[in-house]
Amino acid sequence: MKLTYLGHGGFIVETMGKKVVIDPFLTGNPLANIDPKDIEADYILLTHGHGDHVADAIPIAKRTGAMIISNYEIATWAGKQDVKNHPLNHGGKWQFPFGWCKYVNAVHTSTLPDGSNGGDPGGFVIWNKEGCFYHAGDTALTMDMKLIPMTCPKLDFAILPIGDNFTMGYEDASIAADFIECNQIIGCHFDTFGYIEIDSAKAKAKFEARNKNLILMGIGKSLEF
Ligand code: NI
Ligand code: MN
Repeated sequence: MKLTYLGHGGFIVETMGKKVVIDPFLTGNPLANIDPKDIEADYILLTHGHGDHVADAIPIAKRTGAMIISNYEIATWAGKQDVKNHPLNHGGKWQFPFGWCKYVNAVHTSTLPDGSNGGDPGGFVIWNKEGCFYHAGDTALTMDMKLIPMTCPKLDFAILPIGDNFTMGYEDASIAADFIECNQIIGCHFDTFGYIEIDSAKAKAKFEARNKNLILMGIGKSLEF
């Protein structure tokens, strides 16, 4: 699996010969360094309806023909805009050409940019023969995270929000890493705006104290898992 960081909660995962884009927020993101017109996608996964997650999803889907995968309300919203979509809901999984994709609980809110109901927010666990990872979306630390290692294959890595204010901060995220039984954590949802600026050294130290590795990827940079 090749993981590329788009900034904020946004990533591209290349796996099983497919390009899976998660929460693309480029337009309006002061730190973004990639033109949304340069993004190729076969699938676009949306954790919830907030503008800093769905921002570029519809234009990318229309240009590339990618399918949007999200909760029922967001998938329906995409469908109304003539975008291919697959609705999931919490606890449900489906096998796509890129692997199994399970929509799991998050504690957050999810109103869409046009004010319509974005359903309840979630995260995704994705697995195939190349590996397994979790993108938590925007969430508080929640006991439901303990269900992930009980119900999904062992995680190779996990993407957790660490910026505080709108989501859990890095202190709680380090506890989440224990709950999900994963040692390789990619931090996201930090530094994009003033409310979520963090001290990277302190964040890494917090994870080290729990024998976890916090990876802060550069925007536009890639890693192989
Ligand atoms: Ni949000
Ligand atoms: Mn957000």
